[in-house]
Amino acid sequence: MENQTELIKSKIDIVEFIGSYIPVKKAGRSYKANCPFHNEKSPSFVISPERQIWHCFGACHDGGDAIKFLMKWENITFYEALKELAVKAGVKLESVGFEDKEWKTKEVLMRINVLAADYFEYILHSTPYGKEALTYLEGRALHPKMIKTFKLGYAPQSWDSLLRFLKKKNYKEEDIYNAGLLSQSGSAHYYDRFRGRIMFPIKDIRGNIIGFSGRLLSSDPGAAKYVNTPETTIYHKRESLFGIHLAKDGIKKQDNVLLVEGEFDMILPYQHGVENVVAIKGSAVTKEQLGVLKRLTKKVTLALDADAAGEDAVKRGIREAEELEFDISVVTVENGKDPDEAVRNDHVAFKKSLQHAVPIYDFLITLAIKTHGDSSPYAKKQIGDDIVPYIGRIHNPIVQSYYIKKIAALLDVSDESVERLTRNSNRQKKPARPFVSAQASTPPDRRIMMERFLVSYILQSDNPYTVVDQAFEILSYEDFTVPALAKICAALIEYKKSHPQRFDIKEFVPTLAAELQPVCDEVYMYTGNDPDQQPNLTRVANEIKKTSLKKRISDLLEQSDEPDKEKQIASLSEMLREVEKRASSV
Ligand code: CTP
Ligand code: MN
Repeated sequence: MENQTELIKSKIDIVEFIGSYIPVKKAGRSYKANCPFHNEKSPSFVISPERQIWHCFGACHDGGDAIKFLMKWENITFYEALKELAVKAGVKLESVGFEDKEWKTKEVLMRINVLAADYFEYILHSTPYGKEALTYLEGRALHPKMIKTFKLGYAPQSWDSLLRFLKKKNYKEEDIYNAGLLSQSGSAHYYDRFRGRIMFPIKDIRGNIIGFSGRLLSSDPGAAKYVNTPETTIYHKRESLFGIHLAKDGIKKQDNVLLVEGEFDMILPYQHGVENVVAIKGSAVTKEQLGVLKRLTKKVTLALDADAAGEDAVKRGIREAEELEFDISVVTVENGKDPDEAVRNDHVAFKKSLQHAVPIYDFLITLAIKTHGDSSPYAKKQIGDDIVPYIGRIHNPIVQSYYIKKIAALLDVSDESVERLTRNSNRQKKPARPFVSAQASTPPDRRIMMERFLVSYILQSDNPYTVVDQAFEILSYEDFTVPALAKICAALIEYKKSHPQRFDIKEFVPTLAAELQPVCDEVYMYTGNDPDQQPNLTRVANEIKKTSLKKRISDLLEQSDEPDKEKQIASLSEMLREVEKRASSV
């Protein structure tokens, strides 16, 4: 397996590979890009063609090879990514003796879901228990073809029919429970979660069934209208978009995604040729859902329910969408309370209305005027209060200033006063959070940054051997705060003895201790984000030396029991003076 992985990787050039997902630009020995895994303006995502790896020096602080990139990009396991890459590389993957535990667990759950979907579908079409449900779906104007396309089904009114079916197929109760298909009463007793409900399989973008939602057949005020799969290893409500596997090509082609709330709101427009529609299943769009969508388009059109809750959902969706720099438009649903009704009542009118989507800020202005009127000074203040916070969060300055002018004209006040309000509301704005899986990380302090810069400078130079010697005329290993960086330098000096002719980073890295290898890779690609760090080795080495001496002096000052403390301080201070003298002459 190890060999297969290497073989696959060797057939794929990482720069070309990542370049097929995001724009990359040559920068010295490396390539740079805006990191696709968090939101940023200046590129801190570096790809090294020599090492065939990538690293994000921004919020993510993550990196790896082509497989790791694909895992993160598609949010898939190692094995899934390897399978995809194998196809690209034209290598036939033999999975003998291979263990990807995470994938195995996921695969079992997905297999269970497929069987469950088959079962529900069978009940719907081929048993008397499904009759009423089928009639219901026809009553909601679903074409039989769509019922098949979405693989809709019916979960019979029974406590254990699915459980028994899946057990007969040799699945363990525990796994069926982990797939989200069972509920548990007490500590041991499992029973079917979905009973007497129309079943909608929920698929991920690749078409795997990750969960279900089930709608009650009859309206029963005592029960939830929809029951959904709970959070499982494969179903994450915040990421899931109903219909995405069918709509993804349409979204790309039209460079726009139509967001609706519910399953029926997705299926009905799709049935009538709207091919870029997905349902967010509930109120506001999440940043995880937008994270899935932003690979397909940066334009969303919201067609949410025509009620107060729908308006609220629109408002709550803006913040995330604006932060990820989506263009947001809104379609007002007429002829019904939601797209599902609107399509049923007049699908031609619905499709036409999609062409009249308005930018979200215009929608909000119209909404505020509708709410407050626009005549009295008091109404004007209220409109301002409603709108300004949203305008304050618009990322694009041109768009923002357009709306400042528009609101000023509307309220009959100066542009400056609206601008001032916008600034004030901006000040209360929460700092932007890093996107998706970016772990919070403290920025490395200046000392660490200088050490990283130094070692990267050494490794990237044309002759690392000479440069490392130069640096260690000034420095010694105890001047480093990051032991790994000192060790890499030590290893380099050793390596020089065995390979005096030529330094090759590809050969050097594998000779390092395992835990040093990723550090070396990272630092090799580090370019330093500090503008006042000029690539001047002596200056940086002196700076590190100075900081290190000062720290040692202050540490000594705090120690009371050090025997020849005074003498040590004196000698360190002497060294410090020397370095400072030298530094000022560089
Ligand atoms: N929803 C849910 N759980 C609920 C209620 C709603 O998951 N208890 C989700 C469903 O995906 C639903 C969507 O939120 O489709 C919107 O809810 P709602 O507007 O109440 O229902 P409709 O979509 O109009 O459902 P239907 O047309 O089937 O009556
Ligand atoms: Mn509806």
